[in-house]
Amino acid sequence: MTAGGRFVLDEAITAHLDEAARLHGALFASPWSRAALQDLLAVPGTAGAAVLDVEGEPRFAGFVLFRSLGDFAEILTVAVAPEQRRHGHGRRLMLHAMYKARSAGAERMLLEVQDGNLPAIRLYEALGMTAFDRRPNYYKADNGSHADAIMMQLIFED
Ligand SMILES: CC(C)(COP(=O)(O)OP(=O)(O)OC[C@H]1O[C@@H](n2cnc3c(N)ncnc32)[C@H](O)[C@@H]1OP(=O)(O)O)[C@@H](O)C(=O)NCCC(=O)NCCS
Repeated sequence: MTAGGRFVLDEAITAHLDEAARLHGALFASPWSRAALQDLLAVPGTAGAAVLDVEGEPRFAGFVLFRSLGDFAEILTVAVAPEQRRHGHGRRLMLHAMYKARSAGAERMLLEVQDGNLPAIRLYEALGMTAFDRRPNYYKADNGSHADAIMMQLIFED
């Protein structure tokens, strides 16, 4: 666990899967259940972390899942509870994933993000990530509309 002034970063993500599934379900059109999160975590190279707000009673604030695959790693998902945003939790979770991936030998970090998801895109850009490709109509919303996926990457410098 890593503790900051008002938060704790807990690598024991399995202790937080109920909250993670609840948050994912509230945010995304294709929600991942607790069982789906468990299946993802069972794949070798996959790990995660939860961030808890510890000002007062500890509260789950968000989580990240990532996977290291040889010389690259990918963010599977990152999410922060709406009422906990803009407190640096998203940045913390991403930096943790990047540090872990790099320690595991990754030379670059990849992810895909829905075109127009400006909070996420701004977060990734603030961390030095850049867009390198686009997958047309990759995401489908509940109302049947589609959106492109933007592929972003960060190449770790020596
Ligand atoms: C994207 C998300 C994880 C960001 O979490 P967060 O904890 O609010 O982010 P942080 O507080 O760490 O923000 C870090 C930086 O990202 C950028 N950023 C974050 N939210 C932003 C917003 N709404 N508008 C513009 N920039 C934003 C800013 O540069 C910010 O730094 P600043 O606060 O010093 O200006 C959060 O908005 C979220 O959970 N969104 C829904 C789920 C999602 O879309 N996940 C990504 C799927 S690919």
